[in-house]
Amino acid sequence: MIPARNTFLLLAALALTSFSSPALDEPTKVPSPSSTNPAATVNGYQPKWWKEAIVYQVYPRSFKDSNGDGIGDLKGITSELDYIQGLGVNVIWLSPHFDSPNADNGYDIRDYRKVMTEFGTMSDFDELLKGVKQRNMKLVIDLVVNHSSDEHKWFVESRKSKDNAYRDYYIWRPAKDDNVPNNWVSFFSGPAWKQDPATGEYYLHLFADKQPDLNWDNPKVRNEVYDLMKFWLDKGVDGFRMDVIPFVSKREGLPDLPADYMTRPQFFYAMGPHLHEYLKEMNHEVLSKYDVMTVGEAFGVTVEQTPTLVDERRNELNMIFNFDAVRLNRNGEAWRDWTLPELKAIYTNLDQTSNVHMWNTVFLSNHDNPRVVSAFGDDSAPFRAASAKVLATMLLTLKGTPFIYQGDELGMTNYPFTSIDQCDDIAVKNAWKALVLTNTVSPDVFMANVRKVSRDNSRTPMQWDSSANGGFTTGAKAWLAVNPNYKDINAKQELGDPNSIYNYFRQMAELRRKTPAFVYGDYKDLDPNNAKVFVYTRTLGKEKYLVVLNFSEGAVAYDLPAGLKAGELVISNLAKLTDQGGTLHLKPWEARVYKL
Ligand code: NOJ
Repeated sequence: MIPARNTFLLLAALALTSFSSPALDEPTKVPSPSSTNPAATVNGYQPKWWKEAIVYQVYPRSFKDSNGDGIGDLKGITSELDYIQGLGVNVIWLSPHFDSPNADNGYDIRDYRKVMTEFGTMSDFDELLKGVKQRNMKLVIDLVVNHSSDEHKWFVESRKSKDNAYRDYYIWRPAKDDNVPNNWVSFFSGPAWKQDPATGEYYLHLFADKQPDLNWDNPKVRNEVYDLMKFWLDKGVDGFRMDVIPFVSKREGLPDLPADYMTRPQFFYAMGPHLHEYLKEMNHEVLSKYDVMTVGEAFGVTVEQTPTLVDERRNELNMIFNFDAVRLNRNGEAWRDWTLPELKAIYTNLDQTSNVHMWNTVFLSNHDNPRVVSAFGDDSAPFRAASAKVLATMLLTLKGTPFIYQGDELGMTNYPFTSIDQCDDIAVKNAWKALVLTNTVSPDVFMANVRKVSRDNSRTPMQWDSSANGGFTTGAKAWLAVNPNYKDINAKQELGDPNSIYNYFRQMAELRRKTPAFVYGDYKDLDPNNAKVFVYTRTLGKEKYLVVLNFSEGAVAYDLPAGLKAGELVISNLAKLTDQGGTLHLKPWEARVYKL
């Protein structure tokens, strides 16, 4: 998810960084099991629509432009609802669609009750919501309330004077020794404080200086948030993805970041002393009154802390995004080569730290991360399609609600960036200033990393067809260049090809939807140390499925563990083979699902 700090320099140190268990959180306190009615459970779990859902993330700016201005919009999304439904997903998560000056592409909100002008009007939103409901899908929107835009009327007021009625809506501190109030760093490079000329005081911004952090310790702020949540829920939206929600409660006294958190400040900013109190209050005041799905973007939350946020008996959130898997390929913001046993260990850890009263998410991409096939598969021509299908098989058969990012169902790839001028993301532009313009990192090294991890890789426009700009816009220019491979990789071509990634994805989605074992079944990794093949079972009562994924570019003769034999082949991404015994002859990047 979250973009650059100026960490390129610290790669060596980061290589040793452990992302688990900083001893800063409260211990997990969950009541003992008993409270649920076992008769209503499946494998111990309370069935819920959001546990059975497949979520598709739409990044509105890049999805589909309806009016030729080069920027995606709500009407564009409405026009492609059949495409989304055809994929077999049933929930759409819409990245921010609110009025914003776009310092951070909509994650800086100026008015929480207004639609971004470039995206359309409130009646366009209502049409979109109607179209989603007509198709029996659900719409989840982004709740970005750790910070607002500095152009929000609350901040415009707040900065005017120390005694303004809105002063305490944000986090203001006087200078300390003629300098910033503490050593906190922003995720977008530089200090997390900016001095404001009107009063000479500093305000806190964990992200861009145009994203001042709201002061959640002020009950008025929390009530404003609950009101705006009700505004959207009363319109009929089905829940929220909550942007960096674990950061909303700040540590008492705003103490300096300890040295060992400098390169991973998220673990210091997250899980502040009142977080649980505020989430419980939000749940009581708002969420408990609606049948909604909530998923917290839990950057800086460890697997061990997760139950404290999502155990249903605590009445806080439904699910969180844990970043261990999606960030496995990163040392800070620099690319690192990852291994399959590491990835498997993460999924096992997530599963083993879980219990029947909580639920996980599964995702390997979003608008803050590179393309899934480029980061976790192999986007070279011979293996792009097969590896994208292996990843789809995995995402749709692991335990937890899958979140799929737009374009990944087509196997869209990272963009071949060669110059900083091709980039849009504030995180990358600030990092360029902080690192390249100070001669700390060479432009070549910087750009090589951009090609691997930059957020802009996933933000290039959807590739709809082989016409100019990939059919994303009828205008001359898209807001961010379309990937030059759009003539080969696009929705129109894939819809017409029965062997396409899109059509495979849709079969996999159908398989998940009709197979409770892939939702509620137990998960077991059968061969954790195998560096090439990922083999696991999902078991629900007597129903058992075996998933075999070759994550390598070579053929593998794989001996199933003793006692296991290939059963009925339910799906494979390559030609169906006839392996019947205990040895599977896997082609490069082959995926198979068997019913045992
Ligand atoms: C997380 C969002 O996913 C990211 O895009 C954004 O820049 C930060 N939060 C700040 O809102």
